[in-house]
Amino acid sequence: LPRRDFTIAIDGPAASGKSSTARAVAQELGFGYIDSGSIYRCATLLALRQNITDTGEGIGSLADLISHAKVDIKVRPSKSHQTPSLGRLAVPDVQVLLDGEDVSREIRTPEVNRLVAKIASDSSIREAVLHIQRKLAADAESRSTTSRSVDAEDMPGGVVMDGRDIGTTIFPGAELKIYLDASAMARAIRRWDEMNQMKDVPVQKPAHDPEASAAPAAVYPSVEEIARELEARDYADINRENSPLRIAPDAVVIDNTNLTFAQQVYTITDLARERMGLE
Ligand code: DC
Repeated sequence: LPRRDFTIAIDGPAASGKSSTARAVAQELGFGYIDSGSIYRCATLLALRQNITDTGEGIGSLADLISHAKVDIKVRPSKSHQTPSLGRLAVPDVQVLLDGEDVSREIRTPEVNRLVAKIASDSSIREAVLHIQRKLAADAESRSTTSRSVDAEDMPGGVVMDGRDIGTTIFPGAELKIYLDASAMARAIRRWDEMNQMKDVPVQKPAHDPEASAAPAAVYPSVEEIARELEARDYADINRENSPLRIAPDAVVIDNTNLTFAQQVYTITDLARERMGLE
């Protein structure tokens, strides 16, 4: 079987589970993984550090800054945990380096969340990020064979990239395109959980949580606020002029509101193996 590169594009709205799904799929297939949203988040972090909060003046210099910055996404394969939701799947950790600085946490703050869709709507930023994405993918394809967990011999090398426009704009020729979706409330609850896990201090619990006790002052938003923010971000992503969030005509749509994590991951790896001619 001749080796060839296989690209999996996973697109969808914010907090639809793209990132953890894509990471588990990548580890399962021994592919590289690239979180394209983290590149836009790095650009946004640079913007905040330069006091750029609008896409007016200054955006040109920001595009220049991000295109000269070194963005690296490091995947550390993790051991699989036997949990009911994961089965034997593992979700590798991802570290995002901006000019060598670990910004993995800083790119996920509420400040970055609020500004990122605006920064990502600018065409000069998207152009700069496109080059970073394609370069990282080329590197990942050459690296991915080293961390593979399954019978490596007949497997093509490959890369999994998640984002909003991977199947439509970045890799329109991707061998497998997935559009991952879930209801706004399901996504808000997941994002809230994620924020909660990342924080060192407890946050306000949602009003309907029976466990909620005298909650400390809210530093982070409630589920309802997150849902509103997600919807605003979806709206911006869907309605922007440049490379908006769209379902590619040849994408497989998976709504995971009522799927377990393992179900959706195996749906994707089965499709990939089938298209690679392995099953
Ligand atoms: O996936 P995420 O939430 O980390 O993405 C952050 C923002 O980046 C999101 O609001 C839209 C933008 N983005 C994009 O426009 N195109 C991509 N391929 C990935 C992300």
